[in-house]
Amino acid sequence: MAAASSRMVQLQSLTQFYTWARAPFIVSAPMRVLSGAHLAVAVSRAGGLGFIGPGADPKDTMTELDKARDLLDKDPLKTPTALDLLPVGVGFQTWNGNLDVASLAIEKHRPSAAWLFAPRHGQRELDDWTRGIRKVSPATRIWIQVGTLREAIDAAESSDSPDVLVIQGAEAGGHGRANDAIGLITLLPEIQDALRSKGIPLFAAGGIADGRGVTAALGLGAAGVVMGTRFLASTEARISKGYQDEILRAKDGASSTARTQLYNHLRGTFDWPEQFSPRTITNKSWEEHQEGVPFEKLKKRHDELLKKGDEAWGDQGRTATYAGANIGLIHEVKGAGLILDEVRREAGEIIRSLQFINQ
Ligand SMILES: Cc1cc2nc3c(=O)[nH]c(=O)nc-3n(C[C@H](O)[C@H](O)[C@H](O)COP(=O)(O)O)c2cc1C
Repeated sequence: MAAASSRMVQLQSLTQFYTWARAPFIVSAPMRVLSGAHLAVAVSRAGGLGFIGPGADPKDTMTELDKARDLLDKDPLKTPTALDLLPVGVGFQTWNGNLDVASLAIEKHRPSAAWLFAPRHGQRELDDWTRGIRKVSPATRIWIQVGTLREAIDAAESSDSPDVLVIQGAEAGGHGRANDAIGLITLLPEIQDALRSKGIPLFAAGGIADGRGVTAALGLGAAGVVMGTRFLASTEARISKGYQDEILRAKDGASSTARTQLYNHLRGTFDWPEQFSPRTITNKSWEEHQEGVPFEKLKKRHDELLKKGDEAWGDQGRTATYAGANIGLIHEVKGAGLILDEVRREAGEIIRSLQFINQ
């Protein structure tokens, strides 16, 4: 009961700040390049909180925030935002981000949230970013995504502790913990127990694609949920057709996705901190890698197929197709607003259907 009432207090303070948000609180993840201003604004407009992802270049954050402001100036949200902040969030991968460039964009636009993930140097690096962002925009709330109990405790005990912790389970698409990831069903409640005295709201990320996942996450102790892969199949995602078709085609995340650095390397990225690796839909590159085909050959085949556009995707394709273990739950491309409405409706039905318990 104590956990439930402390969550009520957290929810109240969250909704006082995120004035436009509706319950259950649903967030779209800051997926690198794929989550642009259009997706973020659509999610916030529908009563969630939309995050803009890191760009291919750190300067892209400014461009996307400019775009978000423009969209919101033309058609503002119905509810005024707290402290006149921009009602979207923005995400950074701190290991390859640029705090000076990020600070310029945050100072200019004052987003409602800044999300930090994937430090090379642990909490020390997250603290530097937290202080830097709070200096230029004190009201911007700091969200930190973690994937282990240790990371959660380090963040919560820091003197620069975040306003929200996103707890990322092993199911998550894109990068997450490489060797010590664990499913949300145990990770989230254990973190909740460990951080009870801190009062930091926890959001669940990883594998959530519909109202069933949302309800489960709330039951585990989450104040809200994050969905990434589900929004890859939204009309507002900045995604190629071949990639999006894969999100709809693939199923059975256990056999058709894997966590591996292989695709980072095929794309020419070798410097991700080793504690992280991405979950991706597997294809020919992975199959042949498992059979022992040398990397140089895989790279050559990958680069050749990449020239053929959408053919690079699919089970006969070779390119990176980052996605979560939940791909078997995603069957249709829809507008982000409709996704939110449907997920919220389904979650509401499940919650109501459970109310006979204890009567
Ligand atoms: C394609 C893709 C790209 C991602 N890029 C980022 C990123 O740049 N920064 C980040 O913090 N998280 C990133 N994530 C992870 C999300 O923050 C989140 O943990 C994940 O999407 C949740 O799992 P789900 O995809 O099963 O919903 C990415 C996820 C996906 C699927």
